[in-house]
Amino acid sequence: MTRPRKLYVKSFGCQMNVYDSHRMADMLAPEGFAETAHIEDADLVILNTCHIREKAADKVYSELGRMRALKAAAARDGRRLTVAVAGCVAQAEGEEIIRRAPVVDLVVGPQNYHRLPGLLARAEREGAVVDTEFPVEDKFDILRAPSRAATRARGVGAFVTVQEGCDKFCTFCVVPYTRGAEVSRPVIKIVAEVERLADAGVREVTLIGQNVNAYHGEGPDGAAWTLGRLLERVAELPGIARLRYTTSHPCDMEASLVAAHRDLPSLMPYLHLPVQSGSDRILARMNRRHTRADYLKAIARMRAAQPKMAFSSDFIVGFPGESEEDFRATLSLLDEVGYAGAFSFKYSPRPGTPAADMPDQVPEAVKSERLYRLQAAIDRHQAAFNARCLGRSFEVLFEKTGRHAGQIVGRSPYLQPVQVMAPAIMIGDIAAVTITDLGANSLFGALAETRIDADAMLMEA
Ligand code: 5AD
Ligand code: SF4
Repeated sequence: MTRPRKLYVKSFGCQMNVYDSHRMADMLAPEGFAETAHIEDADLVILNTCHIREKAADKVYSELGRMRALKAAAARDGRRLTVAVAGCVAQAEGEEIIRRAPVVDLVVGPQNYHRLPGLLARAEREGAVVDTEFPVEDKFDILRAPSRAATRARGVGAFVTVQEGCDKFCTFCVVPYTRGAEVSRPVIKIVAEVERLADAGVREVTLIGQNVNAYHGEGPDGAAWTLGRLLERVAELPGIARLRYTTSHPCDMEASLVAAHRDLPSLMPYLHLPVQSGSDRILARMNRRHTRADYLKAIARMRAAQPKMAFSSDFIVGFPGESEEDFRATLSLLDEVGYAGAFSFKYSPRPGTPAADMPDQVPEAVKSERLYRLQAAIDRHQAAFNARCLGRSFEVLFEKTGRHAGQIVGRSPYLQPVQVMAPAIMIGDIAAVTITDLGANSLFGALAETRIDADAMLMEA
């Protein structure tokens, strides 16, 4: 028998890449590849890359520099190391990657990784292979299910792709080009995948998609289902205690999704709803298709349906043409919403996107200064939100052992890490925890004696 070959997958960027990385490992397991945690031992390294900002894309090339040394070391040991680049940089740059980094044996786009076994065999036979064509077949029909052991090893929370791609074409964004047009998976396929995960012990499922609330997959009745309806169906599945979904667009906050937050106790009251800017002038130039008022209305509808709701967002500073006044509108929106957390980025011109060619690019120093001010404001909001949690009780889903002996760590409904002194046997359980202390990156709590009183979770500002 041949020895199992070792696979090391490194994921960059978004949660969909994490999901895709798992599916690549699942696809290769029956081919005799076992995952290793040590890159030096690997026979195959897959870099699953992100193209969203220049910095993310640059990481790939610095990583490929390291791969050259690893490949030489493997050769000295009489081993062959195969290097594959997958993900959105693969899709965007294709053959250019092999020209710039001849260490790469295989370039495979996000819509083609179900073909990995065949592509690897070809790369081993013929040398460098590139596959970034958008295929006619659906990769989800060909991808292999994870083993129960693989699912267990990945923990109590899992991602499930329900929708992929984007038709919105925000002028700064590469996603419509790298992930392609929007496609929704049929309801029965998603239900089957979640059932399998639940059967292997998964307790929390996050439905993911670049534009997840534009979901319109075929239901068992033949009609197009909304995300709200899909959530309602998935919430019925035994074993799944918590549901989340990401990432949403403010234009697609349809009524059934708002109702799902009112009606489904397992749907966590936390919504990541990127706004990007608080200025209508900039939102229009970004082609966001919503105004500041539309966005605030979406937040208000959610809060009216579910008073426990808290929000996070993404912001871009220094988009072409952004004035100090536009930027202040972003700061004031932040205060108006009162976010529990947010991600903020300096605008990064991406080749091939309309904003990259806009004339009034903002100088780097101005971007840096605005990012600094925005991050300070976000930190302030996050600290205030965390401070409001002090003394309250939440249900925490325990995920793994904690920082110190005797501690385990889990997530609150708002995704805050909570460290608790409790036995490791409780990992995978959901228990009521009273927040006793605030740390820099996590909350501290104690197991609560009584069940949670629903009102104790009310988080309005
Ligand atoms: N420059 C900076 N940030 C970007 N994002 C997307 N494209 C760019 C870009 N060109 C940010 C947006 C998006 C998040 C995933 O990344 O805020 O919501
Ligand atoms: Fe990119 Fe806009 Fe689509 Fe989000 S909605 S993936 S930011 S184009």
